[in-house]
Amino acid sequence: MKIGVANDHSAVDMKKQVVEYLVQKGHEVVNYGTDTYESCHYPEYGEKLGRAVASGEVECGVAICGTGVGISLAANKVKGIRAACVSEPYSARMAKEHNNANIIAFGARVVGIEVAKMILDEWLNSEFLGGRHQDRVDMIMAIEEHDD
Ligand code: RB5
Repeated sequence: MKIGVANDHSAVDMKKQVVEYLVQKGHEVVNYGTDTYESCHYPEYGEKLGRAVASGEVECGVAICGTGVGISLAANKVKGIRAACVSEPYSARMAKEHNNANIIAFGARVVGIEVAKMILDEWLNSEFLGGRHQDRVDMIMAIEEHDD
């Protein structure tokens, strides 16, 4: 798959390990994150990744900041994005099976690299179940239209 990754200064090392892991698994990775430890603004990177996923430039995305919260909130402001912030593999799997999340987010200050790898495996290797879950995902996406 072609996967985008984005991160702020708090997640540079985690991002590098994640990229290495994804490449090793045969994925093509596009880096939308920062590569320096200089303090920066996670909304910029969440938006960049969100736009790349929403436009189809990449198929899905991995967003990492200190907690995963801020960068996922930013990505979720982009139309078409369903970014799920998780800290364990079960929620990562459900985020795909039930919510069809197109971005997975986690915190470099919350999970270690081994849990992060498990999160990625569960999310990338599971399938959206559709059916009643499609109806609910449609309802989520319809919210985007309510304020227009
Ligand atoms: C940066 O210090 C931190 O606020 C950021 O990485 C993230 O955790 C925000 O949600």
